[in-house]
Amino acid sequence: MDGVTRRGFLKAAGGAALATTLLPAMAPAVARVAPARRRYAIVGTGIRGSTMWGSSVLSRYRDSIELVGLCDANRKRAELVGRRLGGGVPVFTDFDAMVAQTKPELLTVTTVDATHSDYIVRGLAAGLDVITEKPMVTDEAQCQRVLDAEKASGRKLVVGFNYRFARKHQRIKEVLLSGAIGKVTSVDFAWYLDVHHGADYFRRWHRLRNRSGSLLVHKATHHFDLVNWWLDAAPTDVSAFGNLRVYGRNGPFRHEQCRGCPHAAKCPFFWDITKDRGLTELYVECESEDGYKRDGCVFREDVDIFDTMNLAVRYSNGVQMSYSLNAAMPFEGYRLAFNGEKGRLEIRDHDRQPWTPDKPTEIWLTRSFGEREAVDVEAVSGGHGGGDELLLDQVFAKPSLPEWLRLPTSRDGALSCLTGIAARKSIDEKRLVRIDELVKGL
Ligand SMILES: NC(=O)c1ccc[n+]([C@@H]2O[C@H](COP(=O)([O-])OP(=O)(O)OC[C@H]3O[C@@H](n4cnc5c(N)ncnc54)[C@H](O)[C@@H]3O)[C@@H](O)[C@H]2O)c1
Repeated sequence: MDGVTRRGFLKAAGGAALATTLLPAMAPAVARVAPARRRYAIVGTGIRGSTMWGSSVLSRYRDSIELVGLCDANRKRAELVGRRLGGGVPVFTDFDAMVAQTKPELLTVTTVDATHSDYIVRGLAAGLDVITEKPMVTDEAQCQRVLDAEKASGRKLVVGFNYRFARKHQRIKEVLLSGAIGKVTSVDFAWYLDVHHGADYFRRWHRLRNRSGSLLVHKATHHFDLVNWWLDAAPTDVSAFGNLRVYGRNGPFRHEQCRGCPHAAKCPFFWDITKDRGLTELYVECESEDGYKRDGCVFREDVDIFDTMNLAVRYSNGVQMSYSLNAAMPFEGYRLAFNGEKGRLEIRDHDRQPWTPDKPTEIWLTRSFGEREAVDVEAVSGGHGGGDELLLDQVFAKPSLPEWLRLPTSRDGALSCLTGIAARKSIDEKRLVRIDELVKGL
């Protein structure tokens, strides 16, 4: 009996009072067949894959999503995460075997950055819709392959740019859309990573260009995507400088990792991973599989990424940006300003600092020949300023949001990565790099 027939029956049978008495007895006859859940798989069962794209997805969307497979190059880690997610999910180290045996419809890619493109291309070719963590790619050849693969597949690729979905970043977009500062002429953007979070990139695989693409790609892809989205424009030219001034070979001493380090007592970056049971299980107890040390020394000599980066970027709408990223700061957050024909919008974001700021995010609008006013922004709880949860809702629950909050596409993923890739090239080759020399068909 479908809804219409059932309503007709209840009416004929004498109305609401009668309906109430009949309902329990009728329940078996009117039970609906639950819609099929979407078959979902994850490749990359590290911290991001197991939490944001694992436990958070299952706790929020279990009615519409069925986790059918987990894959990771590290079998122990995949098995642990399988147990953490409730058990019973088949675990693989062979991606093609996972796809063939579990037949997912939707795939999330949360592996080490330089391996994303391979899984994206294989997922799309197998007929799956794919969500990839940022950065979509780490070099221009990977970028071209992903763009071509998506076109050929007819499937959809989404890039998990959660920063767009943080309330404070939406608020900035709203003010720009309102026209309060007129057309934007230039952007000043300085992002600060502190000696805790910034240093952590130098402990992990991120310290190697061939794994992360450098922080110009791994981290700055978030920032470049925000700027592209705020300006509704694409980068065209990039010029950059980069240097390694604090970590890596700059250190006064070094060891392979913090555990067992003879310099522990005098090293300000010493970090004891064994104090965190969850991380010890996820990484230390899985080391036997691949030798990866999560608590690597920040002063290892193989660090080949920059901790100090400055860029000049020009955009398709004529806007110019000066951008910097520093990874050994005493505080974490950013300073950002949009200079416009009719005024200036300034933002100071306080993420972590050794003082108590008045507000976590200050936004000021100053009109030319006018006054300065504070722009309110609601405090939102949740991961990455509430961005994680809103992004998940967009992917799995599809709430109606304005067009400017649509899910980030492969083009968005490409344009943000290519800004960092062009910056890296500019530093290596000491020249201005045009985005259109890197890939075709954007
Ligand atoms: N959007 C965000 O705010 C955000 C936050 C954290 C991480 N991330 C992204 O998530 C991804 C994972 O980061 P993480 O912090 O979880 O790292 P992680 O080191 O905890 O996990 C990476 C996993 O990939 C696995 N792996 C490595 N190479 C592989 C391969 N070739 N095939 C299969 N598995 C492989 C590793 O064994 C590990 O389990 C990264 O791309 C990172 O940029 C995004």
